[in-house]
Amino acid sequence: MTRVAAIVPAAGRGERLGSRTPKPLVLIGGVPLVVYTLRQVLRIHPFSQILVPVEPDAVVRMKALLNKHGLRRVEVLAGGVMRAESVRNGFDRILPSTELVAIHDLARPFVTAGDMAGLVKAAQASGAALLAQKAVATVKETDASGRFVKRTLDRNRIYLAQTPQVFRTAVLRKAYDKVGARYRDFTDEAGLVEAAGNKIRIVPGHAINFKITTPDDLVMARLIARGR
Ligand code: C5P
Repeated sequence: MTRVAAIVPAAGRGERLGSRTPKPLVLIGGVPLVVYTLRQVLRIHPFSQILVPVEPDAVVRMKALLNKHGLRRVEVLAGGVMRAESVRNGFDRILPSTELVAIHDLARPFVTAGDMAGLVKAAQASGAALLAQKAVATVKETDASGRFVKRTLDRNRIYLAQTPQVFRTAVLRKAYDKVGARYRDFTDEAGLVEAAGNKIRIVPGHAINFKITTPDDLVMARLIARGR
């Protein structure tokens, strides 16, 4: 059985949500988002390790919360100022025999086992794979002002990156080595691995795996969770 570690970045302030409650603690389906997403993570794959970087001053509290909800095997650690640093901190704790690493945003609670299985297969074959949703709308690129259309893109070639993103551990390690301190500039690890010169396989994803970012997303997530 391939050993796959999961890193679930859960630090940052989640400012776009406009909530006083930190994002990992907003309630969905009657439990904090961090509990809801981690339960789902446990369902989609038998991960060998689950690493959760959180705000440095929240490590102790988060550990207690997860213990209370029966999530004892989750390893909580201090995240960084940028998402990329949080993921890197998790990566540094991965056990040596781990073949694949899956990175999944805490803010995507509805990830499915089917998508995860597709990603593991693709990453085993090609070294790097990400879930991404094919654009359904017509996509416009703006000029520098951001107020006028510069051109219309061919939507058949546009995919919106999601997570999980799955890599051979050696591939991600080499990418970190190659880009050095620039790793902080990337908003996802597929971007980093791409910059290091690797090919990334796209596994077509689904709209249900949306990221809770805005207050509207939270309303939608709560409705979905209630219907389950
Ligand atoms: O801010 P954004 O929605 O892109 O964050 C994506 C994911 O990265 C979230 O799950 C968030 O908790 C995490 N994050 C992190 N450390 C940061 C900033 C964001 O783990 N410093």
